[in-house]
Amino acid sequence: MVQKIAFFNHKGGVSKTTTTFNLGWMLASKGKRVILVDTDPQCNLTGMALKEETEEDEARIENIYNTHSNIKTGLAPAFESQPRAIEAVDCIPIEGQEGLFLLPGHVGFAEYEVILGIAQELSGSIHTLKNLPGAISDLLEKTANKFNADYILIDMSPNLGAINQNLLVTSDFFLIPTTADFLSVMAIDSLSRILPKWCAWARMSSANSMLKEATYPFPEFRLKFLGTIVQNHRIRNGKEIKAFQTWIEKIENTVTNKLKPVLEKNNLLLPHQVYTEQSINSSFTITKIPSSNSLIALSQKRATPVYAITSEQLNQQSIVAENTEKEQEEFKTIFSDLANKIIALSTSYAVST
Ligand SMILES: Nc1ncnc2c1ncn2[C@@H]1O[C@H](COP(=O)(O)OP(=O)(O)OP(=O)(O)O)[C@@H](O)[C@H]1O
Ligand SMILES: [Mg+2]
Repeated sequence: MVQKIAFFNHKGGVSKTTTTFNLGWMLASKGKRVILVDTDPQCNLTGMALKEETEEDEARIENIYNTHSNIKTGLAPAFESQPRAIEAVDCIPIEGQEGLFLLPGHVGFAEYEVILGIAQELSGSIHTLKNLPGAISDLLEKTANKFNADYILIDMSPNLGAINQNLLVTSDFFLIPTTADFLSVMAIDSLSRILPKWCAWARMSSANSMLKEATYPFPEFRLKFLGTIVQNHRIRNGKEIKAFQTWIEKIENTVTNKLKPVLEKNNLLLPHQVYTEQSINSSFTITKIPSSNSLIALSQKRATPVYAITSEQLNQQSIVAENTEKEQEEFKTIFSDLANKIIALSTSYAVST
């Protein structure tokens, strides 16, 4: 059965999209079948995965938006009351990595935000809106079945709107990407306030008979927390620079003092030993990802993770190439470890339920 993992943080620019892409690629390189879902109307993940660089690329991608099924057209039967059922999206294979697919985003997906918000407030009572809260989950399940996917990674937009509420509570797992700074500490604080409300709504909706009997039934609430990712801190001589280290500690303290009690109270944690077996600390930092410096630009240009850029693609002098290779190896180890942890955590949950 497919495992859906949401990358959730309403703070922008914390590397949700970049990490979705890099982790998905790594999971696929380990033999998993992975669908990356772009639910952000900015469509950054779609641009990254389909290599949007030149004007020609823009025209090619524009053509994909207009002709290819995507998150918006996939949901149109439910959201635009079309007389046909939701069908699996025809995902696009991502060049360079077998088993990795993209469910493209659409700038117009944001248009469904308002009606979904109304449906989520009122769907227990208004018959005509009952099919909306379960529609996204239905689309993702059908698409996963068609592609025989093991994982769906959901790249979310930076906000706390109805679509994100729906995506999060209908997922199996979530990760919180952060950057080592004050704004991420603030974000964890506000996520701790919003989560109980969303969980309460999800439990109510899972039990609501009208939503259960809808054409697209609202799924069972089974969300679990995988951990936080601290991103983009600079490394000097193998150690985090002091200022960044201070912010990492502050993030970990906020997770321990504010988020953890909320996770416990809402039954969002896996059994304690599942985390400790994967060497995840008590503040749930699943990994720390350093800045990839100049390599990030090349990674985007080549639509390939930093760690998978080939020496032909790098085309560097030998002395520079040596340093670059070292940096790539570090990233490869980080993402390989992260993928192993995700596989172990998600497998343990699948076996226990
Ligand atoms: N490890 C990294 N090293 C260097 N730069 C990075 C790293 N991760 C992400 N970036 C850069 O940081 C910026 C933000 O990353 P990204 O777009 O992935 O964040 P996001 O959380 O998806 O943003 P948004 O909230 O707008 O969707 C991008 O310019 C990206 O190239
Ligand atoms: Mg993004």
